[in-house]
Amino acid sequence: MSRFSLRAAIATVLVAVGAAAAGGVVAATRSSDEAALQPIRQPADRSIESRVNSLLSQMTVEEKLQQVQLLPDFLANETEVRKGLGSVLSETRPARIRELQRIAVEETRLKIPLLFAFDTIHGFRTIFPIPLGTGASFDPEMASEDARYGARESAAVGLKQTYAPMVDVSHEPRWGRISEAAGEDPYLNSVLAAARVKGTQGTDYSERDRLAASPKHLVAYGEPDAGRDYNTTDLSEQQLRNMYLPPFKAAIDAGADTAMCSFNAINGVPGCGNRYTMTEILKREWDFDGFIESDWTAVAEMRACPPVNPANVPECGHGVAADGPAAAALALSSGVDSEMTSTLIRDFGAQLLDEGRISMSRLNDAVRRILRVKFRAGLFENPYAPFTPEETEAQMLRPDAVAAARKAAGRSMVLLQNEGPVLPLDPSKNTAVIGPLADNQHDMLGPWWGRGADGDVVTVRAGIAQQSTGATTYAEGCKLSNLEVPAWNGDGCGPEADFSEAVAVAQAADQVVLALGETREMSGEANARSTLDLPGRQEELIQAIKATGKPFAVVLFSGRPLALENIVGDAPAILEAWFPGVQAGPAVADVVFGKVNPGGKLPASFPYRVGQVPIHYNRLPTGRPCNKQVKWNSQHRDIPSCDPLFVFGHGLSYTTFEVSNLQLSSSTVPRNGSLRASVDVANTGSRTGDEVVQVYLRDPVASISQPVRRLRGFERVTLDPGQRRTVTFTLNRSDFGFYDNRGRFVVEPGPIEVYAGNSSAADMKQSFTVR
Ligand code: BGC
Repeated sequence: MSRFSLRAAIATVLVAVGAAAAGGVVAATRSSDEAALQPIRQPADRSIESRVNSLLSQMTVEEKLQQVQLLPDFLANETEVRKGLGSVLSETRPARIRELQRIAVEETRLKIPLLFAFDTIHGFRTIFPIPLGTGASFDPEMASEDARYGARESAAVGLKQTYAPMVDVSHEPRWGRISEAAGEDPYLNSVLAAARVKGTQGTDYSERDRLAASPKHLVAYGEPDAGRDYNTTDLSEQQLRNMYLPPFKAAIDAGADTAMCSFNAINGVPGCGNRYTMTEILKREWDFDGFIESDWTAVAEMRACPPVNPANVPECGHGVAADGPAAAALALSSGVDSEMTSTLIRDFGAQLLDEGRISMSRLNDAVRRILRVKFRAGLFENPYAPFTPEETEAQMLRPDAVAAARKAAGRSMVLLQNEGPVLPLDPSKNTAVIGPLADNQHDMLGPWWGRGADGDVVTVRAGIAQQSTGATTYAEGCKLSNLEVPAWNGDGCGPEADFSEAVAVAQAADQVVLALGETREMSGEANARSTLDLPGRQEELIQAIKATGKPFAVVLFSGRPLALENIVGDAPAILEAWFPGVQAGPAVADVVFGKVNPGGKLPASFPYRVGQVPIHYNRLPTGRPCNKQVKWNSQHRDIPSCDPLFVFGHGLSYTTFEVSNLQLSSSTVPRNGSLRASVDVANTGSRTGDEVVQVYLRDPVASISQPVRRLRGFERVTLDPGQRRTVTFTLNRSDFGFYDNRGRFVVEPGPIEVYAGNSSAADMKQSFTVR
């Protein structure tokens, strides 16, 4: 069953600065946390406001209720549009979009255009690396390029909104959707979220190659209990505000005018019934004047149980609303402006108004917000795509987009280890490309492949063959299964696997690239795993190749951090390539043969074993910190380390770097003041390469316990051998303050420690005092 037919079934039941100027000092990019302290949204455009009001004043209740309705492709028909449907999702056929839009703007009474939305998450047709991979690039420019090309291709078919960026900070590698955002850190997620919004919208999303961005999922969807998708989340006010809300704030400050509420309950209140997060925080505190769409049937899921429950599942809804009308009232009153797929607000709105259970002013507010975005998107002036349906195909996979996807994939790769060094390999030698993902197009696209097609992908085998002047040979080793349904009895590469051909191919070659990992179906929505190991017998395949004595490198494809304890001893070189997208093969070959020097860093910790999770660098301290020598402390007695196997921010290069000379511009700073932290970085090896300079803060004594480290600045710099640069970060109250449990941002006097280096284990330290 395809994703969309599966959904149809469910619906029926429910109804930088980058490389800085030569020789110079690099001024680091700032996160929008700074902006968190000042409302920066522009006052609404007066002429748009008066057009919105004039339209609203002409609308009947029925038209208003149909405007807040958002239907998927398979439910959005001509009849719905004639009744004044508000928005459509997942319809991407250009001719169909044009026809539905024609009906909306020519045949409806008020001629209000439809808003067409889609999940362009990491590309529409030109698929870029998964967002976790872009997170690993520590490169906002890459995130922005990905979003820009995704918007261009989406807009070409007539779309005007994307359900992206996904900005859910997650400490849960078991969760399949950790693949969709930038990992475990709120600062990195904030910087990349802002970059993606700007890449999607430009400075004006009415432009013909731009879309409105919709950060999601408000909020803390990334922290489901045990990593099981949709599961509940219980969190303190300070965690909500320090850890999970900052990327949303960054996206809103970057200009996002729409947002999506989440499936999960936060402290017992579902995201789409949560007045506190949607109305109090987003709309009031942050002055957000755009609209919030619900996630897919999330409004209906607030009921105790849908009326039709064929599977007889006893627990089948959040149970915060007795029935459909109650769920509709709760959603609208809490802040949902547009209901996706389920139709409760529309169906029961008139009755709820009569009964006084929702107010007309709130309904007007929801409609006003939707119309405002439609005006800002220029839909009243330009309701149609800028190309005819026949012209759209030529807008896909254009060379500039494909080149950007290749560059992004290369910049996302993280060299986890490189003993020997095995990498880079020599392209003039004979290379065996082995493994279930070696000649694979399908999985390289990762979860949320938009309208990407398997046939667009250049495989690892093909990429290696293109760049190698020696022979390229191939063996699959074993087969992983591409099942969308959970594989209770294994994910392939099972007992039937026979490695004899792979071993023979390795023996006949000079060197081996071993392409291993997960299938794309193992990540994404509703795809949690209970183990983080390489699926099936892939670890044994590594051992078999090791036994040949040939130099080999493991290239890993995954949508999450994996537990690599069992392979680090066997595989001398490991390159984490995530799901790299359409240019997987060329990008892997670029890195494996050294044309591109890897410079990515882990956006999430890689544990030894699944039993360590959640394990993240930005944890709170305890009274009995982990210490291998001491028995009575917070460690696992059967894991030989207090840390993950590979820490957040870790990543090697084919050259070496020295990060030194951390200097602060001042030893004290007033609460509202700022200071500069500068650090030198030098390429001490023999190749040009990239280093990500990272700055972390720690407040050692505060009224509430503070994380042992918090990333507060980073810069990816490219240096030639022998070259040295000074990178400077400005730190202010948004960096040394924090939200307390009453939701107040506080800056407390006392010392602050600053750490700098090239991973979260950075130990170069200076301190200053906040007065
Ligand atoms: C997902 C959202 C997505 C929506 C529309 C939901 O199942 O949770 O992230 O935007 O579907 O496709």
